[in-house]
Amino acid sequence: MNYLRRQIWDIPESKHTSESVYRERKTHRREFLERMGIASAGLLLPWALSGCNEEAPPTVQPANVVDPPVPVADPENESPTTSSHYPAKRNPKFEYGRDETDREEAAKYCNFYEFTTSKSAYKYVDKFQPTPWEFEVDGLCGKPRKFDLDDVYKTFTLQERAYRHRCVETWAMCVPWTGFPLSELLKLVEPKPEAKFVAFETFNRPKEAPRMNEPTEPWPYTEGLTIEEAMNDLTLVTTGIYGQPLLKQHGAPIRIVTPWKYGFKSIKSIVKVTLTDKQPATFWNTLIPHEYGFRANVNPEVPHPRWSQRRERMLGTGEAFDTVVYNGYGDFVGKLYKS
Ligand code: MTE
Repeated sequence: MNYLRRQIWDIPESKHTSESVYRERKTHRREFLERMGIASAGLLLPWALSGCNEEAPPTVQPANVVDPPVPVADPENESPTTSSHYPAKRNPKFEYGRDETDREEAAKYCNFYEFTTSKSAYKYVDKFQPTPWEFEVDGLCGKPRKFDLDDVYKTFTLQERAYRHRCVETWAMCVPWTGFPLSELLKLVEPKPEAKFVAFETFNRPKEAPRMNEPTEPWPYTEGLTIEEAMNDLTLVTTGIYGQPLLKQHGAPIRIVTPWKYGFKSIKSIVKVTLTDKQPATFWNTLIPHEYGFRANVNPEVPHPRWSQRRERMLGTGEAFDTVVYNGYGDFVGKLYKS
């Protein structure tokens, strides 16, 4: 049984968050609990949701176990609109500094809690319909608007970026994402000066994604960044992986990737991007606030309340590395956190 013990580093949220943000988050959590008919937070057992609550199991398969191959291309994703855009030109500014993860290893080990708490999301996504797709950008901006996938492919020039990815559970991978900087999208809608945060929301379709029927979880999945983080060149609106459109389990057809933060910040299959003056509530922070902060920058010096963050293991090979602050992207984002 997976249970929580309070540790010395498990600082109450009120100690590291401003009072106003803390109160707002508490209100959101209380509203969520009330909506669910749960009178006290003590009755909610979010760690029954395993993924982000466990150290990753070993990822190296014993030699005598052979799984059937996992599809690494999805014919449903291929269309005349998309095919001419892949593979996109690689941006030489970004290098892994490690070996690239095998695409099948990445495709078969995913976190997508809308479908399953196991890592085999690819087995549960058949009903999910990532096309046609629309997402809207709204909130504190001069030109709110909706985009469909055609708009995305027409408006933005895609590039490929070799990024490291570090999950809070200590597994890591190196994959080539295809996309464009979120800053390009935000500039188009003209953020107002009052916009201090960007909130993201995933689709809400319990018929296609059965775990969204779980009444004790704050669906749809949400995430957020400060406006400075959102405008940082590293933050990528992502439509592809390994030179082709995203597989369903990787968050088709469009997701966010923030490689200096733990993986749960890289929200999949988004339908809404909202500019706001308030720190938005997020899925994991609402569910388990003392384990998953809003900022969630990779940092080996700050252990998760239940495990160390000093080392990480690569998907597929199991090779272990020391974890590096900001996942090694300090040159890009360190200046954001100077104060
Ligand atoms: N986005 C949504 N909507 N739902 C999720 O369950 N899982 C997060 C993140 N984005 C998740 C999500 C977590 S915990 C991780 S580590 C990454 O997606 C994993 O991305 P990948 O499965 O493509 O490797």
